[in-house]
Amino acid sequence: MTEVLVTGGLGFIGSHTVVSLAYAGFTPVILDNLSNSRISVLDGLEQLCGYRPVFYEGDVNNPEVYDRICAAHTIQAVIHFAAFKAVGESVEKPLAYYRNNVGGLISLLEGMQKSGISNLVFSSSCTVYGEPDHVPPDESAPVKPAMSPYGATKQMGEQILRDIPSIRTQCLRYFNPIGAHESAQIGELPLGVPNNLVPYLTQSVAGWRGPLTVHGNDYPTPDGSCIRDYIHVMDLAEAHVAALNRLLGGKSDSAFEVFNIGTGKGSSVLEVIQAFEEATGEKVPFTIGPRRPGDIVQVWADTQKVDNQLGWKARRDLHTMMKDAWRWQQQLTRPS
Ligand code: NAD
Ligand code: UD1
Repeated sequence: MTEVLVTGGLGFIGSHTVVSLAYAGFTPVILDNLSNSRISVLDGLEQLCGYRPVFYEGDVNNPEVYDRICAAHTIQAVIHFAAFKAVGESVEKPLAYYRNNVGGLISLLEGMQKSGISNLVFSSSCTVYGEPDHVPPDESAPVKPAMSPYGATKQMGEQILRDIPSIRTQCLRYFNPIGAHESAQIGELPLGVPNNLVPYLTQSVAGWRGPLTVHGNDYPTPDGSCIRDYIHVMDLAEAHVAALNRLLGGKSDSAFEVFNIGTGKGSSVLEVIQAFEEATGEKVPFTIGPRRPGDIVQVWADTQKVDNQLGWKARRDLHTMMKDAWRWQQQLTRPS
């Protein structure tokens, strides 16, 4: 069995990827410091994987953790999710973001070099394109000045990895992951008031929050609201398995390869609301508010490269994303 270290493997995308890895016959080894996840996620993973995945509670910044893990396992590749991801918080605490996201990556790479592990899948983001000159951007579109310290950490991460050809990297630029595993055993667990559209929407419909505010309906888009490429988190999880197979199969064209991971289809905020209502039969309470500072108008993925080279394609549509997000929300207990 091929053992794969999954940093941040109890988080939103990491936990779904652990399931996809297990389904594909890999053995995930999870490292997470629980800074933005709960240990109970392991129970859901046990249900879905059919066994309780190995879990190390530890920090990617701690070099000793790699000695401990590599002494007990033969790690063939790493999928690196562990990072902080709140854009607004990164503006308030930039050093914490640089320490965790850039410092953590450097510690990981040092640990990998020491242990002779040379295969990596890295979580990047479409945020590196900023407001693209042309929509949809392909992977060669220029990286724009970062709009937040969080965005800067993703750009720096990519640059560091380009500079280290001894580590073969699949750099995945995610668009907007939403939804949950269809079983509702695992999903997204945002702490406090969600900033992102879909967790706020589902919490609002569940009565946990007030009406959703649509941040602007005066953009130059068909219905005036912003457009994003929403992708089901299980499709995203499966893209990691494809990237891993490409790495381990020796099929990468170069030491550092980038792929856009999206559906190739843009949906506006108002279309998301409509899709939710159609998919669930629930009414979404919402008001139109002002634009949110820092929002880009529209972006969706050019998927030509991923279609041609990775052998992966997003399969789940917006209705499925909405159904699964709602099923997950319905079984959550409201925090006191
Ligand atoms: P998440 O916060 O749900 O998961 C991250 C996990 O990493 C958490 O379980 C957290 O406890 C853990 N972690 C954080 N710092 C750590 C550290 N120093 N040591 C060990 N564990 C640590 O986030 P997510 O949505 O699953 O995102 C995963 C990755 O994907 C991140 O790198 C994020 O920047 C990137 N990404 C996310 C999105 C998105 O919309 N969710 C979009 C683009 C890119
Ligand atoms: C944001 C981050 C991005 C990060 C991603 C996942 C910014 C500028 N970008 O992307 O870097 O990778 O989250 O964490 O913060 N919306 C509403 N009402 C709401 C919430 C959102 O109308 O209550 C709208 C937004 O204006 C946007 C769309 O929904 O048009 C999606 O927003 P969101 O889910 O926050 O994702 P992004 O802004 O695309």
